[in-house]
Amino acid sequence: PNTAGKQLPRIYVTRRIPPDGMKILSQSGLCNIEQWDSDEPVPRSELLEKVAGIRGLYCLLTEKIDAEVLDAAGPSLQVVSTMSVGYDHVSLEELKKRGIRLGYTPDVLTEAVAELTVALLLATSRRLLEAVDEAKNGGWGTWKPLWMCGYGLTDSTVGILGLGRIGAAVMARLKPFGVKRFLYADTGPRPDMATKIPAEFVPLEELARHSDFIVVCCALTPETQGICGNRLFSLMKDTAIFINTSRGGVVNQEDLYQALVNGQIAAAGLDVTEPEPLPTDHPLLKLKNCVILPHIASATVATRNAMAALAASNLLAGLQGKAMGKEVPL
Ligand code: DGY
Repeated sequence: PNTAGKQLPRIYVTRRIPPDGMKILSQSGLCNIEQWDSDEPVPRSELLEKVAGIRGLYCLLTEKIDAEVLDAAGPSLQVVSTMSVGYDHVSLEELKKRGIRLGYTPDVLTEAVAELTVALLLATSRRLLEAVDEAKNGGWGTWKPLWMCGYGLTDSTVGILGLGRIGAAVMARLKPFGVKRFLYADTGPRPDMATKIPAEFVPLEELARHSDFIVVCCALTPETQGICGNRLFSLMKDTAIFINTSRGGVVNQEDLYQALVNGQIAAAGLDVTEPEPLPTDHPLLKLKNCVILPHIASATVATRNAMAALAASNLLAGLQGKAMGKEVPL
């Protein structure tokens, strides 16, 4: 046995991760790696057992990092690094209390997520999945003037809820489609993000009333939990399209279901739901005017490798007490 290796700080990696991330960790010579070597999430009991005495935790958005996990890890834990831009699964308060640092992976996924958001928007507004089904199942009869008509982006108003990196990248990609007006709602004006497009800062109610497309790009926080509910849907145009690629928790799914069934809005496209996976018998999956993807917005090979690599280097920096490439200020 290699006794020298035993002195290295122990880290726990909660999943089989893309190769670029694993390479950085294993070639660093800076840590002893233990890993849940599977594509499926680590069972909670296994996680609680394995974190005992570790110095660093490399996790995904599927692990809830709360007081229980941190207590199970004990005072040795210095750094948590999540392979995600979202960190709503991590209790910041509990980390802060214990002086544990948190790394995350913004920027490297912005383009992939924005691209998928546009794809989902077009699939929803132009009814692509419904149309493919019709072509396959014999619903394609003769050419008809109003059959399979949807809504286009030309001359439209697009409202972004949460104008951060991803929201801005979505707008930049939608602009060439001939969008007439961009609106955004946020906790305050974001001139740094908005001036280039340009986009107008408006209250959420106004965004709802005027938008032909609403795209949700905000983080899930106590303030945004359930923010897209009956009030928002009832203000929206009955021809409007609702898109969410942020977190399922920002949407009240029962209210969304009602809005789609009652024709309050035209259609919805969701890459995120609550819970995930969404049970296959969920009512939203039965609706023709609801397109649901299984949380794949950042799923390009290059992006997932970049996320894995950034999370790995964040973790190593944290272990060494150095500045991380991307760290959540606590
Ligand atoms: C994230 O990183 O938070 C996304 O939801 C998955 O890429």
